[in-house]
Amino acid sequence: MSIVVNSAQNVFLLQTALNSYAFGIDDQGLVRHLYWGKRIDAIDDFEMPVLTEVSTNDPVLEITREEFPVYGGLRYKEHCLKVTFADGTREMVYEYAGYKIIKEESFDELILKLKDRHYRLKLELHYKVYEHYDLMERYVVLRNESEEKMEVEKLHSGQFHIPYENLNFSNVHGHWGAEQQRFVQKVSYGKIVIENRRGISTHNHNPYFILDLDATETFGEVYFGALRRSGNFSGVVEQTQYGETLVQLGLGEHDFCLELLPGESFESPAILCGYSATGFETMSQNLHRFAGDFLLREGLRPVLYNSWEATGFGVSCEEQKKLAKKAKELGAELFVVDDGWFGERNGIDNGLGDWYVNETKFPNGIDELISEVKSLGLLFGIWVEPEMVNPPTKLYAKHPDWIYHFDTRESDTSRGQYVLDMTKPEVQEYIYRMLDGLLSEHDIDYIKWDANRPISQTGLSRDLWYRHIEAVYDIVRRLRKKHPKVLFEACASGGGRIDYGILGIFDDFWTSDNTDACDRLTIQDTYSYLYPMKAMRAWVTDCPNFLSNRVIPMKFRFHSAMLGTLGIGCNILEFSEAETELAKEMIAEYKEIRPIVQEGVFYRIKHTSANDYSLYEYKKDREGLLFAFLPQSKIGHRSVTVKLRGLSEAATYSVKLESGEFRKSGAYLMQNGFELRLTGDYASTLIRFSEL
Ligand code: DGJ
Repeated sequence: MSIVVNSAQNVFLLQTALNSYAFGIDDQGLVRHLYWGKRIDAIDDFEMPVLTEVSTNDPVLEITREEFPVYGGLRYKEHCLKVTFADGTREMVYEYAGYKIIKEESFDELILKLKDRHYRLKLELHYKVYEHYDLMERYVVLRNESEEKMEVEKLHSGQFHIPYENLNFSNVHGHWGAEQQRFVQKVSYGKIVIENRRGISTHNHNPYFILDLDATETFGEVYFGALRRSGNFSGVVEQTQYGETLVQLGLGEHDFCLELLPGESFESPAILCGYSATGFETMSQNLHRFAGDFLLREGLRPVLYNSWEATGFGVSCEEQKKLAKKAKELGAELFVVDDGWFGERNGIDNGLGDWYVNETKFPNGIDELISEVKSLGLLFGIWVEPEMVNPPTKLYAKHPDWIYHFDTRESDTSRGQYVLDMTKPEVQEYIYRMLDGLLSEHDIDYIKWDANRPISQTGLSRDLWYRHIEAVYDIVRRLRKKHPKVLFEACASGGGRIDYGILGIFDDFWTSDNTDACDRLTIQDTYSYLYPMKAMRAWVTDCPNFLSNRVIPMKFRFHSAMLGTLGIGCNILEFSEAETELAKEMIAEYKEIRPIVQEGVFYRIKHTSANDYSLYEYKKDREGLLFAFLPQSKIGHRSVTVKLRGLSEAATYSVKLESGEFRKSGAYLMQNGFELRLTGDYASTLIRFSEL
């Protein structure tokens, strides 16, 4: 039983394999948080503390641990919900109206029903409990059952109470080309706010919180939650005056207002959340497992070739055919034509919106290339940027009012393009039909969906931030239904659309335009805290790298890209014989280990070496992998002690190093570890091990 209720006391206990989450309803009808942490089975042990006002300046609602504080009354901390009713009243006063439990195959769901004391507004707090994943999803539903419009000015999906002060908060910072840069910051008095106001994408912060009590990979308490939504979000961490830390996450507060018409309901995005008493590794593995079982499509992801870094906008049918032939020779399984194949697209200033095949580049149509790709035995993929339009296009000439705009202002271009107003049904229909046409008329297996600028001049409605993303999700859901074999890659100027909202609707993330293998290790390491390795597209590209100017040996570049779903983005027509041979070998090796990388359990292996080794382990059934990287050896060029994780103590393992094989027990490999020494610059190795 993952949901236990003490009806006499109105206490609710949500149980996962190792953890518990408890709350209850007090005699005032307030929904009050009681506990989040390691598992406690005795529901009767939970008591509702009697609240007494500390002083008139510390009112009861300020000290109360509310599950979902609404705006109103003597509440001055962050609230999750602010509604303005038709008469202008801006305060909600709720009362408890019962609960319901739903049992599904993979989760149990508790719905706590609340209603406003005066207005006909219902509020439901939903908790989905994934017992065997040690995870929960929290979201809320608002129902306007009145005859009048209500305005929702703020909606966070839930509040969490962490019973500590001075925690560590971690998230990412970064920008284009440097996404997923992890930062850790001490929480103190006051608030930490993370948000995205750009509408489309965010390279800057990611919609999640991780709060830990000096945890490491394998020790210590970690509380975490990820918003299942792309686009605008806001998250607040607040250390209160009363010895605890509050966290909220939800729809972006910035410029937000949602109209709830009579009879309408609104479901907030869920927060996928959990607690780990055993460090970050457990957090990552539980999330990866959830993503693997519920969000990611089954099956191994193909090795991709993408022509973007090789050709830029200078696409031509003949060259693409040559690239496809060479990609096949190397071992690629999917050939993707990136930007530049359509309209008058010869640079960033034109083409977006005119989704017809460029006749100069493809005089016989795109099917000439597709047929060639298919006859080689490759899958075929194509790039699109459907949410955008360039001013010189036919689409813009015909529908200048389809872009986000204020009638009295000029809309800004960015990367030479406007953003289409995706809240308009006719725009949604145009995009759906265009993509449906593309997929119906041509044998396409893969869509790379890009979005290269943020929204501005939004127009008058202040719910566009939500509705824009909803339209993107809806179009892709419809396309997937009609074209079930097609895989969708989420890209937004590199890694701008990595979140738990888009995962499951799209299949892959383009992680970053920064394809420098060394920079990628940092980006990918942070990515791995939350997101599954199977959804991480990583390419091997040419050197000197176009961004970093670094020259990195091909083997290191391959190993770095093999940590996720392998892609090749080089100008392979320029490969020397030696490069061709090495690429063939590495791709063949990736195919052998692919089930372990894409479907195995992932570990970030920590060590104490003064050398900057990066060590990653993958384990599936009796097989395992260890990738080791050393960008630059220094400090006495000493070896690193590698302690593997997740082995059977009593079993014997065969470990294959480049220098030869050795055999040790699981206990030895995990507790004592083995020595590994890499030397020189950009050294890397892949060690395979198996249980005998
Ligand atoms: C940005 C993407 O991140 C790149 O991979 C590439 O598709 C370009 N856009 C094309 O314009």
